[in-house]
Amino acid sequence: MLPRCLSIAELGCASGPNAFIVVSEIINIVEKLCREMNHKSLEYNVLMNDLPGNDFNNIFKSIRSFKEKLSNEMESQIGPCYFYGVPASFYGRIFPNQTLHFVHSSSSLHWLSKVPEGVENNKGNIYMSNTSPLNVLKAYYEQFQKDFSLFLKCRAEELVEGGFMVLTLVGRRSEHRSSKECCYFWELMAKALNDMVLEGIIKEEEIDTFNIPYYNPSPSEVNLEVLNEGSFTINRLEVFEVNWNAYDNWNALEYESAKSESFNDSGYNVAQCMRAIAEPMLVNHFGKAIIEEVFSRYQAILNDCMSKEETKFINVTISLTRKSSLRCC
Ligand SMILES: C[S@@+](CC[C@H](N)C(=O)[O-])C[C@H]1O[C@@H](n2cnc3c(N)ncnc32)[C@H](O)[C@@H]1O
Repeated sequence: MLPRCLSIAELGCASGPNAFIVVSEIINIVEKLCREMNHKSLEYNVLMNDLPGNDFNNIFKSIRSFKEKLSNEMESQIGPCYFYGVPASFYGRIFPNQTLHFVHSSSSLHWLSKVPEGVENNKGNIYMSNTSPLNVLKAYYEQFQKDFSLFLKCRAEELVEGGFMVLTLVGRRSEHRSSKECCYFWELMAKALNDMVLEGIIKEEEIDTFNIPYYNPSPSEVNLEVLNEGSFTINRLEVFEVNWNAYDNWNALEYESAKSESFNDSGYNVAQCMRAIAEPMLVNHFGKAIIEEVFSRYQAILNDCMSKEETKFINVTISLTRKSSLRCC
């Protein structure tokens, strides 16, 4: 497949530098292939998607430096790149029929479209946990199945036949839905909130009615949904882990150049990362007044736990090819 213009969609792009990592990798590889094949450069459509509240302006402001960096890496002019912002939920159609060649999404698809229905009895928890009733675990899984299969169906309509899709979700290895591998960092946040209930800072019913719209699938759950939906061939499925504290993944050189006050404070680093993710939801439900207190307690709890045990996020990556349409005989 060598189209004149290659359309790449980055779904759940957020507004930071990660939005460009895979796009630049793809353009790099395609440009090298074009050169090897004595083919002239392609044009590129880069479609950046996230929810409408995302700071797309920050992405647009980085386009110039992205293009400069890419040209420097390639040591020559690359084909023209056209950028578009697509503000919409990926749990629905967002692109015209059969117009995409490559879809990528990382760290986004474990967010559900909504909190599952029927989880009112998940008392004292904010996500699935080992004290969650069975109906809660089932409701979370069923919401994941609905959302993920709708996602696959929509992308199958938007991708050309033979188009590729690579997805990375924060997941789990274990087949137990309430496994510590995926639920622990929310359990620790629930602990901070429950301590505040005991001290009368938060009302018990407030925490009982708060649940995170999130699901960490196992590799077999991802696999099963792809097979059931039926539009894609699975090329590869891999699991990898990263440390909760991002600094722990760095090598000594990066360490030296990034030294800051927070450098050695694992609890601070992880609490800040989780704050970026969870603060809007917490403010929406509990109000702004308690936020500093929640994250200061969460940081202390994280520090205590991370000094005693190894803490890792598990990621599930799947590479898919859009099947050719089934022909009717
Ligand atoms: C943790 S960030 C991941 C950012 C980036 N892809 C990365 O790997 O660093 C998750 C992003 O997914 C977006 N997201 C969550 N649900 C979404 C949905 N239904 N449709 C589009 N974007 C969604 C969030 O707004 C957020 O920007």
